[in-house]
Amino acid sequence: MPHDSPPMPANKLVSIRLQVNGQPVETALPPSTLLVDLLREQLGLTGTHQGCDTAQCGACTVLVNGAATKSCNVLAVQLDGASVVSIEGLEAADGSLHPMQQAFGRHHALQCGFCTPGMVMRGVAMAAEGVPAQALAVSCALSGNLCRCTGYRGIVNAVCEGLQQMRARSPGGVAA
Ligand code: FES
Ligand code: FES
Repeated sequence: MPHDSPPMPANKLVSIRLQVNGQPVETALPPSTLLVDLLREQLGLTGTHQGCDTAQCGACTVLVNGAATKSCNVLAVQLDGASVVSIEGLEAADGSLHPMQQAFGRHHALQCGFCTPGMVMRGVAMAAEGVPAQALAVSCALSGNLCRCTGYRGIVNAVCEGLQQMRARSPGGVAA
């Protein structure tokens, strides 16, 4: 009869190395630490918001190896060797905003702003996913990100424009 491996003690620290916004991070964490807590509590990257904590609202969305990921739904220790980009990582070296962020500004696509980092990161990920810059396609792709303020029209328009700008800037393939 197979034996299950013994459970890891909750207070044991696990060492991981990863890249966060292009910077190497080496840390030791309790195995239960969520990625959102690593970002916000340990690294001070509070641009990633924490809403529902149950993988429903999308406010905590970041990129993990380029894919949109709800950081409240991932254990940090699963990410040894991964590359994580949070909203802070979108800013260019000269301080200018990412085209997706600029599009949100142009379309007034926020009110309280709580959902905005997650919406922007979800929009950025759509470029690599090949989501067309069309309202219906973008609305469907945003279905895991909730906004309680705006009614979504401005957000959808902003993501469409952000996708167009990203593709115009990197026609051969889109990176964050
Ligand atoms: S806080 Fe992660 S999906 Fe809501
Ligand atoms: S702008 Fe307030 S939740 Fe979206």
